[in-house]
Amino acid sequence: MTEPNELRRRTIPMNNGRSIPALGFGTLIADPAKTVTATRDALEAGFRHFDCAERYRNEREVGVALKAGMAAGGIAREEIFVTTKLWNSNHRPERVEPAFEASLDRLGLEYLDLYLIHTPFAFQPGEEQDPRDQSGNVIYDRDVTLLDTWSAMESLVNHGKCRAIGLSDITLEALKPLYESARIKPAVVQVESHPYLPETELLEYCNEKGVVLLAFAPVGHGMKPGVLEDPVITAIAARVGKTPGQVLLAWAVQRGTALLTTPKSAARARENFDIAPLPQDAIEEINRIQTRQRLNPVVNTGVPGFIPRATSA
Ligand SMILES: NC(=O)c1ccc[n+]([C@@H]2O[C@H](COP(=O)([O-])OP(=O)(O)OC[C@H]3O[C@@H](n4cnc5c(N)ncnc54)[C@H](OP(=O)(O)O)[C@@H]3O)[C@@H](O)[C@H]2O)c1
Repeated sequence: MTEPNELRRRTIPMNNGRSIPALGFGTLIADPAKTVTATRDALEAGFRHFDCAERYRNEREVGVALKAGMAAGGIAREEIFVTTKLWNSNHRPERVEPAFEASLDRLGLEYLDLYLIHTPFAFQPGEEQDPRDQSGNVIYDRDVTLLDTWSAMESLVNHGKCRAIGLSDITLEALKPLYESARIKPAVVQVESHPYLPETELLEYCNEKGVVLLAFAPVGHGMKPGVLEDPVITAIAARVGKTPGQVLLAWAVQRGTALLTTPKSAARARENFDIAPLPQDAIEEINRIQTRQRLNPVVNTGVPGFIPRATSA
């Protein structure tokens, strides 16, 4: 049996020779003050992997919290793993490096461990993150391909401030041709995944190619009813003396994925970090759950859900 601490501290090798901590803290938090306290609480609870995005409009707050938390805890930059993401309105190759540098500046960092293309959908280039026509429809940019954007991402790795690159909200169908054409292969793909959306085929492809699958919504965005209240999950939780959330997080790590959760209190951060291995029969029971539910349609539509209204510039 794996030691409990090993599961919390598990890291997954990436194709650039480095590794990513399996337990990640996501910073999709609408309130700037809450972003600071939640990020510090996560660092204190033990999280060493932080997932950001220019789209979340809070990179500055995350940077401030990390700096203060690392100083207080004597944590070196090399001990944490920071990701941020290129937004849809910056897909034109000439916009990629400036967007990357702007994120780096807001985060107050010298380098990023991982930079992701947030979605494979290019929007009208510019400062407006959510460009819409008069009927309210998103204005897409038809003059840039995902591969054009990917080539600009590859240049960032060559320039040395970006250690790994990857994609988010991508389907297996779209990942395959990009993977084949890429000079630098994606290190990570970030997608919604939980027992109601196990993404088994994508995970198998990623395992075969050495790409890390990074699951968001591992507890189904906390929605109820939902996977947190699934009778299989609650029965296992009662049996092993853990919370349903901890069962879902342990399942995700034990099947070989990294994951993101967004605890907003110190108690929740400790809960979500305090996972322990599930017995194999519990893993198999979860694997047999038949309910299917996708919570985030962005992978199909390009129009992101679960994006909070910005409360700060
Ligand atoms: N690439 C993308 O398009 C995309 C999309 C969405 C998210 N993300 C990333 O993924 C991160 C994680 O987002 P998420 O929505 O999946 O986070 P999450 O941890 O699932 O949090 C969302 C909800 O789940 C609840 N929750 C968390 N842990 C719980 C537990 N142990 N038991 C019961 N409820 C629990 C939270 O409640 P409390 O507030 O009460 O803790 C909150 O209401 C984001 O911050 C972002 O970095 C990426």
